[in-house]
Amino acid sequence: MGKRIFGDPMLSRDNSVACNNCHVKAVAFADPQHALSLGVDERQGIRNAPGIANMAFMKEFMWDGGVYHLDFAPPNAIENPLEMDEKMAKVVWKLNRNSTYPAQFRAAFPEMGDTITSPFVLLALSQYQTMLVSATSKYDYYKLGKGELSANEMEGLQLFKQKCAVCHSGELFTNQEYRNNGLDTAFADEGRARITESAADLCKLKVPSLRNVELTDPYMHDARFNTLEEVLDHYAAGVKQSATLATELHQGDFIGIPLTASEKKLIVDFLKTLTDYEFIQDERF
Ligand code: HEC
Ligand code: HEC
Repeated sequence: MGKRIFGDPMLSRDNSVACNNCHVKAVAFADPQHALSLGVDERQGIRNAPGIANMAFMKEFMWDGGVYHLDFAPPNAIENPLEMDEKMAKVVWKLNRNSTYPAQFRAAFPEMGDTITSPFVLLALSQYQTMLVSATSKYDYYKLGKGELSANEMEGLQLFKQKCAVCHSGELFTNQEYRNNGLDTAFADEGRARITESAADLCKLKVPSLRNVELTDPYMHDARFNTLEEVLDHYAAGVKQSATLATELHQGDFIGIPLTASEKKLIVDFLKTLTDYEFIQDERF
């Protein structure tokens, strides 16, 4: 049920935009086409659409953590004027008038009663999204003792642990916290502060998972970098000082993360082992 709804443009005001316009399976459910997302009437959004694999394990959602339950992610897209620009109640009304949805919903959710209601629409979408687990990359097989990493990839992994894992930690490669990683001295996007209204959170964004990162370009909330090499160059030499810059990025006198050219290359080699080809080819999705 959730898969069908996820691919149905009926969820948007003019029946033109589906969830999977912006969250495309071939690139681990990120947006392969638009740096900043594009909604109804070609309206441009303010942020890059993240890949939505492994949402089952996330505590908070969106770049600023403004949504704290997966069930509430869809209304955020549906009712956003820059995305689908539709009312949740209108979506439910359209689904009920459809020739096939009501019977399918009743079959999927016997406890629902005769009429489709919004909790079941959201439940179906969440059930589909929690199925989208990416855990079969080259790195995962290495961790399971069922595959190996090359010498370069192993070196990259060690460097990553030393230099990056303080924020991109654990098997999701995110500590699920908010940090300012020094993109600008002054920001257009207030980030986490949009939600907390605290000056201490200005320009802090959710540390993104790096699973499938090779596929989810461009990078950062505002899509400013096109390649992983540019991202590494940023950390090595582009980090900008500001009041809320992450303490992890100014140790002693150095601002940023010291990286040689060959270290950058090795880290990129490692990051590419997080690409999960089985996941993006999974017929169930
Ligand atoms: C027009 C493009 C667009 C459409 C359509 C869209 N999304 Fe998104 N989605 C985004 C963008 C952009 C973000 C990041 C928004 C932010 O951080 O403010 C996002 C974020 C998310 C997130 C949070 C990801 C994370 O890592 O925190 C989830 C979950 C999600 N969308 C699910 C959906 C579902 C379900 C639908 C359909 C009901 C949908 N999206 C429709 C662009 C889109
Ligand atoms: C201080 C915490 C911190 C450290 C240390 C850190 N990052 Fe990040 N990283 C972030 C945050 C926060 C973002 C998102 C920033 C934004 O979008 O504005 C991010 C974004 C990224 C992205 C873009 C992902 C995407 O989907 O757009 C990549 C790739 C990345 N980091 C790789 C690395 C690598 C490699 C290292 C080590 C050299 C590293 N990071 C060190 C916090 C950190």
